[in-house]
Amino acid sequence: MKTLSHLFESNKKWAESIHQQDPDFFKRLAKQQTPKILWIGCADSRVPATQICGLDPGAMFVHRNIANLVSYRDLNCLSVIDYAVNFLKVTDIIVCGHYGCGGVEGAINQNYLGLINHWIHDISETYERHHHDIQTQCKEHKEKVNRLCELNVERQIENISALPVVQKAWSEGQKLNIHGWIYSIENGLLKDLGHQSDKIADLPKALQLNFTNP
Ligand code: CO
Repeated sequence: MKTLSHLFESNKKWAESIHQQDPDFFKRLAKQQTPKILWIGCADSRVPATQICGLDPGAMFVHRNIANLVSYRDLNCLSVIDYAVNFLKVTDIIVCGHYGCGGVEGAINQNYLGLINHWIHDISETYERHHHDIQTQCKEHKEKVNRLCELNVERQIENISALPVVQKAWSEGQKLNIHGWIYSIENGLLKDLGHQSDKIADLPKALQLNFTNP
């Protein structure tokens, strides 16, 4: 049986080097996790959340899936957000997309991919919504993909902001900022897309929940 022994060897070296730099590091982390940031990013192997932010394990609560989507039908993602907001009391949620995302490109190409077509359906909807602007503003295929990567992040900020758990937290005065970022695999740099949400009023009226008793 193949045991991927090289990974255990590199793990041992990594743990030893951390221990040398900071002998209490693992003892401290073992007690509890207290991250104040939730990262929602793409499952792409080239976008490891804490590593690209230059942070150590324990600094961010992380959820990753194909094309960094927040879907109302995804119990996994919704549970992560619920735990982060209600138990960890994170102050910031970062949705981080990346340029050249294969999931986003799949929504533009519309090739048959089986189950993945279901998963990226929300991106196809975003593409449809902005189709005219993307076609007129972007010439190259790569540009179109990258623009849709940005628009997809914006859409997820709205999806997160509209979640009952998030609106409830805001209604109770909990401090919670939703950020939209994008990462370039070509140069390793993060960019803030400048779209933030930190209160119910940032949502379109039709999505705002009512928390006053009738
Ligand atoms: Co991706």
